[in-house]
Amino acid sequence: MLVALERLISLQEGYRGTFQVQGRQLLLIVVDQQPILMENRCPHQGAPLHAGTLDGRVLRCFRHGIAFDLVDGRRVNAPCLPLQRLPLAYDGDRIGLDL
Ligand code: FES
Repeated sequence: MLVALERLISLQEGYRGTFQVQGRQLLLIVVDQQPILMENRCPHQGAPLHAGTLDGRVLRCFRHGIAFDLVDGRRVNAPCLPLQRLPLAYDGDRIGLDL
């Protein structure tokens, strides 16, 4: 079952949207023309990632500065678990999460 999050036409470079789905906080972001869906929770200590700064495809968490490559999910500057990316699903002009 698709839980639609956004219209495809809204997904321009630099887009950020936050959503709550079944108690999970999610972040949808567009980097390098790619929509990426992830938990809106830093794997270090849980800060909301939507408040981080974006430099190209690297998102830096505001709390302690750990940076993650959004395309592959790996951290780039400190030991930490990778980001938890989620698979996207499409239905017509909508993008969302397949549950
Ligand atoms: S909570 Fe994100 S870097 Fe520490």
